[in-house]
Amino acid sequence: MTDTQSPSRYYLTTPIYYVNARPHLGHAYSTIVCDTIARRKRAQGVDTYFLTGTDEHGQKIERSAQAAGCTPQEFATKISAEFRGLWDQLGLTYDDFIRTTESRHKRGVQHLFATLRDKGFIYKGSYTGQYCVSDEAYVDGPPGTPCPDCGRITETVSEENYFFKLSAFERKLLEFYEANPNFMGPESTRREVVSFVRSGLKDLSVSRTSFSWGIPVPGDEKHVIYVWLDALANYITALGYGSDDPVDQARFAKFWPADMHLIGKEISRFHCVYWPAFLMAAGLPTPRSVKANGWLLFDQGKMSKSRGNIVRAETVQAVLGADALRYFLLREIPFGQDGSFSFDALVQRYNADLANGYGNLVSRVVNMVHKYFGGIVPETGAATAAEAALRASAANALAAFGPAFDDLNFSEALKSLWTLVAETDGYLTANAPWKKPPDRSDEDHAALQARVLSTAAEAIRIITALVYPILPDSAAKVWLQLGQGEIADAAKNAFLTNLAWGGLKPGTKLGKPSPLFPRAEKDAVDRMQNIEEQNNKSVIEAASGGADNSGSAAKAEASAPPQQQSIPPQAPAAPQAQPSPPQESQAPALYQGTTSVVPPTQPKELGAFAPEGGSSAAPAAPEQSTHITIDDFSKVDLRVAQILVAERVPKADKLLRLEVDLGYEKRQILAGIAQHYEPEKLVGRKIVIVANLAPRKMRGLESNGMLLAASLPDGAPVLAGFLEEVPLGARLK
Ligand code: MSP
Repeated sequence: MTDTQSPSRYYLTTPIYYVNARPHLGHAYSTIVCDTIARRKRAQGVDTYFLTGTDEHGQKIERSAQAAGCTPQEFATKISAEFRGLWDQLGLTYDDFIRTTESRHKRGVQHLFATLRDKGFIYKGSYTGQYCVSDEAYVDGPPGTPCPDCGRITETVSEENYFFKLSAFERKLLEFYEANPNFMGPESTRREVVSFVRSGLKDLSVSRTSFSWGIPVPGDEKHVIYVWLDALANYITALGYGSDDPVDQARFAKFWPADMHLIGKEISRFHCVYWPAFLMAAGLPTPRSVKANGWLLFDQGKMSKSRGNIVRAETVQAVLGADALRYFLLREIPFGQDGSFSFDALVQRYNADLANGYGNLVSRVVNMVHKYFGGIVPETGAATAAEAALRASAANALAAFGPAFDDLNFSEALKSLWTLVAETDGYLTANAPWKKPPDRSDEDHAALQARVLSTAAEAIRIITALVYPILPDSAAKVWLQLGQGEIADAAKNAFLTNLAWGGLKPGTKLGKPSPLFPRAEKDAVDRMQNIEEQNNKSVIEAASGGADNSGSAAKAEASAPPQQQSIPPQAPAAPQAQPSPPQESQAPALYQGTTSVVPPTQPKELGAFAPEGGSSAAPAAPEQSTHITIDDFSKVDLRVAQILVAERVPKADKLLRLEVDLGYEKRQILAGIAQHYEPEKLVGRKIVIVANLAPRKMRGLESNGMLLAASLPDGAPVLAGFLEEVPLGARLK
């Protein structure tokens, strides 16, 4: 099914991003990787089409919009504009940005659905089972089963649905993987997908009736098309699939199948199993490859809104520039693996490789050509062994960079290029054109300067051309300084196809030296942290009505369900940051007090419901010295929830596992109250939970929040509750 590679055109895609969260560095990562690939392809003369966009349908978006008090369409439009705006601000060169709410997409998805149905691959049946709203995925298991991907409790859905005959593709898919060993990567993804398919494929429900925010099934409008069938189809609808317009048809014919879908590793099943099966069923060619990136981790957890540990690309851009971010992501994280992001590591890498490395090298050479040769590249003269060695290094870099890059091994590609940076630096230092020894004649010294500076400048030209896809802004500046004109023009003229030593001609007039990567001082880390804190603070203020950001997407998000995002990354007691694995007795604090709920100064433990040093003690007076501000308080997102399921946790005599309903979502929390409450009596009870506490694991189960209770003198908990009726999800403030 897979076509042979066409060298003359290249179609690559990012995943389309859910609009329930504002863009963060995790999202920027995939888009930046695609941007570097697209730039390199274009600079090799390949007709490239780079697609990105937003995934705007589904129950999750519908609920987020509801919580934000606007229509799903308004909500989606605001957040989608943030993604697009950020991609523009970062200078990402996508050719098309698709929104799944656009009519061109709806038309294509309905056409695909109808085609699959007409070909007999979609039939009507009924489904009762578990569904994870957060991942929009069906999950095997009994009610209460957590989602294997995100750990959230799945919902039971019972609906009359349309089904796709996925089971008919088990063998075909395995044969397809076998015949196309490079279809998926990295190897871990390939293994996971193959074993998933080998374990047996069931037919897939591809419509829902319990909500309406989606694309209607053609001819049966009470059903909306399953969000993943809708979303995956973006890769073809953006090109014009399903359109009668000859221009669309020509584009589709030219660019489909995609050369590469770049995705996050957790969505490989959708892309490597469902997507090729849909395409095979529709009689369309399958994509040539699906490559999965790992996760960007921050504070040891996957950077995500629900964990509240995100960093925004714009923060890094504001302090160090977009190129620094691109370089760090590609150099520091071997593609396909998870990688830790930290401001410290970023600044270190920036200073070492960019400020002191490449940037310093360019500045030394360009300044010396200005100083000694009036800014004109001198004649090289006869090469010595030193020049031959540097030239050989450049040839090595040229030979190593391309294959590594094209294999998505960006880190290795950059490493090999920085070997050339270091060798050029070493060559300069060894020949010291700025220092004339007393025994060298003026004439000999001028010849050495000419030879060394023009050779070093040529090495810089090679480095700059190769690094252009990764450092486009900086490479553009260096290109001008090297007297080469606009690098964008060079890219249009496919300058990477004939890159070879010797392109910098004697007599070329260099441009003015200009700073590239000013050294980052110690405060750079603080500045980035402060921006993130301010950012989170304004989200909190907006949530509590304290800031006027009406009309901004920030507000939509702020008033959306409790976002753990509102806890800044530096928030105390983020469980992932704690050195020892949490035990039941180290579970997070419950708060006490009669009239107000405030965080304790010293975390108390769930286990502290056992008597603490005698049962006659009166409740401790709150410590007066530890006032908190309203801002501090507003960081704690307290919400009304109802207990749906309560059960004891095996082998943990204090712990109960609760499933609670917040109105907009259901989740699991663990509470150390088993010695004081019978689980059966808790079901149906409305309680108060801290909804934005970072998740933590106890006894292998994830707790996503913490309930509130007063602590009696004997340590017994009394759950906080309400006398009046309160809606689920209501915020306490
Ligand atoms: N809408 C689906 C994709 C549909 S594609 C037909 C989706 N959206 S998402 O917004 O949740 O994620 C989009 C991409 O962002 C995924 O590839 C995901 O892996 C990536 N990332 C989100 N957080 C990330 C990190 N912390 N690190 C790296 N990538 C991450 O899934």
